[in-house]
Amino acid sequence: MSQSLPSVIISGTGTYLPHRVVSNDDMAQIVETSDEWIRSRTGIAERRYASEKESTSYMATHAAKQAMKAAGTRTDEIDLLIVATMTPDMPFPSTACLVQSQLGLDHITAFDIQAACSGYIYALNTAANLLRSGAYNKALIIGAEKMSSILDFEDRTTCVLFGDGASAAVLECSEAMGLGILSSITGSDGSNPQLLYQPAGGSACPATTESVLARQHFIKMNGREIFKQAVRVMGQVSVDILERHGYSTDQVDLLIPHQANMRIIDSLAKRMRLPMERFHNNLEYYGNTSAASIGIALHEAHRSDRIRSGDLILLVAFGAGLTWGSTLIKWH
Ligand code: UT7
Repeated sequence: MSQSLPSVIISGTGTYLPHRVVSNDDMAQIVETSDEWIRSRTGIAERRYASEKESTSYMATHAAKQAMKAAGTRTDEIDLLIVATMTPDMPFPSTACLVQSQLGLDHITAFDIQAACSGYIYALNTAANLLRSGAYNKALIIGAEKMSSILDFEDRTTCVLFGDGASAAVLECSEAMGLGILSSITGSDGSNPQLLYQPAGGSACPATTESVLARQHFIKMNGREIFKQAVRVMGQVSVDILERHGYSTDQVDLLIPHQANMRIIDSLAKRMRLPMERFHNNLEYYGNTSAASIGIALHEAHRSDRIRSGDLILLVAFGAGLTWGSTLIKWH
């Protein structure tokens, strides 16, 4: 990475989590499952479900306000807004435009990124590079998902896994040379989209009575295959980004992985020979919140003083697409 490019720091973070807590026992009232199965196979104990009024843009806007407050940023300083989501309020306009309006931001650049569970890292990387280029001054990135809106509550293999929520971060250039977002690696492989997808509702299969009756508007997943690939790819992009910057695994102070399954995270820890104390996990409380998950965990870690100036922080994600990404941060 060129040393002449300006540093970009995360100057504030925020989250929004719906109040409604849905326990594993609650899930067992809906599908044939048990608290024991869900905990032992995934590490999830409960998740949050948004109410009707808590749309993706609503949650995103609340997380954004908290992040701007934490950063001491006025709304009118933001000139770039990126929302990562696979559950937009509607196919168009973008959720970013809806959030822009709810925040009262005029004439800025606002757009969505669709990279499923890797969305937070894709948004972070895009915003950081646009800021480094000098095209914008301050960016707001948001990962927000209302996963409950696309869950099939007749499919126990998927509906127990996901939850709703949003996370946001303010990004800006800084004089702090060598600190901030060092760089990111992102990648994708679209050769087998059916591993994790929502078959209907797009142009390939518009909504019809038949598509609704065939439950084609819900998540479908080949869990075992996604699991295997997640462990392998997250391990690889973690090592790749550390090598790029000349760090070894044991120099990582905090690793924040996408929160999909505790067994995936355990395997990643073993593969990287990194003790679990160096991870921040919250899967137990929120399940898999897709594009929101890493940002929620980063916010919690920051708020609880787990992150100190100079700490090396590694974010890593994997999701539908397939997509993946890692970001290395030397905290300012
Ligand atoms: O964000 C990125 C995307 N998502 C992921 O990263 C998820 C990746 N995959 C996974 O986390 C895991 O594969 C799952 C949690 C989805 C499934 O765990 P698994 O250990 O791979 O289970 P399995 O699919 O091999 O199923 C084992 C058994 C099956 O029963 P039989 O065929 O052995 O009789 C399932 O029908 O568990 C059964 N099962 C359940 N039983 C109770 C599946 N879901 C449930 C359930 N409750 N909710």
